[in-house]
Amino acid sequence: MNMVQEIITQFRARFKQEPVVVRSPGRVNLIGEHTDYNEGFVLPAAINKEIYFALAPNNSNTFRVYAHDLQQEAEFDLHQVQRSELSWANYLLGVIAQLQQAGYEVKGFDLVYGGNIPIGAGLSSSAAVECGLAFGLNHVFGYAIPKFDLVKMAQMAEHTYAGVRCGIMDQFASMYGRQQHAVKLDCRSMEFDYYPLDMADYRIVLCDTQVKHSLASSEYNTRRQECEAGVALLQRHYPQVYSLRDVTVAMLEQHQEEFNPVVYRRCSYVVHENIRVEEACRALEQGDLHTFGEKMYASHHGLQHDYEVSCPELDFLVDQTSDMEEVMGARMMGGGFGGCTINLVKLDALEAFTRNMEEAYKLRFGINLKTYVAEIVDGTSLVQA
Ligand code: GLA
Repeated sequence: MNMVQEIITQFRARFKQEPVVVRSPGRVNLIGEHTDYNEGFVLPAAINKEIYFALAPNNSNTFRVYAHDLQQEAEFDLHQVQRSELSWANYLLGVIAQLQQAGYEVKGFDLVYGGNIPIGAGLSSSAAVECGLAFGLNHVFGYAIPKFDLVKMAQMAEHTYAGVRCGIMDQFASMYGRQQHAVKLDCRSMEFDYYPLDMADYRIVLCDTQVKHSLASSEYNTRRQECEAGVALLQRHYPQVYSLRDVTVAMLEQHQEEFNPVVYRRCSYVVHENIRVEEACRALEQGDLHTFGEKMYASHHGLQHDYEVSCPELDFLVDQTSDMEEVMGARMMGGGFGGCTINLVKLDALEAFTRNMEEAYKLRFGINLKTYVAEIVDGTSLVQA
């Protein structure tokens, strides 16, 4: 039985009714890291690592849920939604709280959900959960909330119930992904463009370090504060500066001495990363994957040395590819401190690539590297059961 069928079968057996079924994907990000909360540019895509939701109203005031992968169940009174001890439930409760705060009535419902997005691998399993539930409830209860507002609610659920002040990229990518396309999002104007990904001769390969250093969420919030400190400093000279998006290399260089050196490096990384996203998109338009790959390496270099969100495992995996002819580009992906690297690899060398990487990683860290070939799929959608 495949995953969707298992979840539907589970739902019918537990709740004795027919569900609506929703699919919600994880994401990759080709380039543009730690730029979203600085009102910059990102270039993510939704991938075939997905979570499925079977849900239906239950004519009560209770939310009953079964987490298929964890084999755990729980019940919550919808009149008293609050953070739970169960960390997995918070991504769901956070969404419900957002809907309630916006004035939507969330009536009782039953849910079974589960999928194959590895947790803690930086593929945004939490965004997929948030977007899938927001989309599902919007459908089941007929709220008619515009898709972009669902994205914002999913993001706020992460802020308030998971305690990470994330940007909008992950939730946006999960909801707005398009098959065979990356989406360039301007995180200030929220305008976006789809870029076709010609994957005839290449594949996006993720190398999962299998590590997640505990610093990840506290350092994430610290980076945001460091960026804000840089903006505050420059605002004194340039009142038109509201975010690092408004900052040029020249502005930074001119005031370098006034900066705390750490804050300077953080800001410099972000300003250059935004420039790289634009250059990478131009390269993509011209079918120039060589230049695109170079931008990926440069992005990693900045994340490693200036933004300092990488870790030895990620650096090793990226370094390992530097003289592999079959790899066009590689970089750490997502928040950092573990998770995956993203690699652009020639199709005809795929097997050799994964074998070499697995062997090298095992030898160096004694850990079994996992690799995934990411296919680019559509964003959150209904599934015909
Ligand atoms: C995490 C956050 C995103 C983004 C990335 C870094 O995935 O959820 O909003 O900031 O880190 O690019």
